[in-house]
Amino acid sequence: MVPPPRHAHPAHPHPRPGPPPRRPHGPARHHLRLRPPDRRPLPPLRHPHPPRPARIRLPPHAPPHPAALRPQRRRDRTRHRHPRDHTGVLEDLFAYFHHLTATRRAHPTTDLASQIANARIDGHLLDDNTAASYYILIATAGHDTTTSTIAGGLEALIRHPEQLRRLRDDPALLPSAVEEMIRWVSPVKAFMRTAAADTQVRGVPIGKGESVLLSYPSANRDEDVFGEPFRFDAGREPNRHLAFGFGVHYCLGAALARMEAVALFGELLPRLASIELDGEPAWTATTFVGGLKRLPVRYSLT
Ligand code: HEM
Repeated sequence: MVPPPRHAHPAHPHPRPGPPPRRPHGPARHHLRLRPPDRRPLPPLRHPHPPRPARIRLPPHAPPHPAALRPQRRRDRTRHRHPRDHTGVLEDLFAYFHHLTATRRAHPTTDLASQIANARIDGHLLDDNTAASYYILIATAGHDTTTSTIAGGLEALIRHPEQLRRLRDDPALLPSAVEEMIRWVSPVKAFMRTAAADTQVRGVPIGKGESVLLSYPSANRDEDVFGEPFRFDAGREPNRHLAFGFGVHYCLGAALARMEAVALFGELLPRLASIELDGEPAWTATTFVGGLKRLPVRYSLT
């Protein structure tokens, strides 16, 4: 749909495996190594902290843009969530990164921001908005996606105790269960594409230049692909979900996201004696990326 880069290969959702081939119970599933688990007892959770948004560390030594020097105003804007305020926050963010691009072009360092600012495609530097989009993508893509998957996955296990039992009885199911959590939560809700040519998607004509919304949660509950798509099945096989996208823009962090969730649940589940909801969960209001922002639980450890 978007003009494919030169290295593009035809992408077709679902029929071929969406995620790269998986070996659910094979030994070499996760190549990244974690440090040995910390077995010290967890501190008691006496005063649960209110949820805090992910903190993003911006590149050091970036001269602050005036727009970046209004933390109080920025916080207020985020809290009130008026669409116009969101636009203002985005403007601030882009202004910050435009300034970063200019600075790194004038004085390149060895950091990633300098790589982006000075990258060339066909001999041309990236335009300001494209460069800013790269910074923002790198700074944000791995935060809400993974945390939403983990929180939503835990909620699914609480609401489906038979699946939690099944997973505890057979820990080898964990990679499949994590895959199902990713399908279930689908933390990226949508992206847009613009048709580069007249085409059809499952018989629906799409004209050149038309916008198309890719709804990941909808694709991941497609009855033609998944048996009982509205059932959380910790052992679902196959699980050709599209939560990480498909084709040339397939998620760069998919392996890391899977590994994080496997690591967390691999440590948590053997130590969990009981867990239940302790109030109503709350969700982020989003049309883009998100999931649970509050998941009150009562639990005990073995
Ligand atoms: C469960 C967790 C995650 C989900 C569901 C997810 C989902 C996605 C989706 C749907 C896309 C867009 C695909 C497209 O446009 O066709 C994407 C792209 C991307 N993701 Fe993720 N993501 C996750 C975690 C991560 C993590 C942990 C990182 C990095 C640390 C990351 C980095 C990226 C990057 C850099 C891209 C852009 C790739 C490109 O345009 O070539 N993601 N992800």
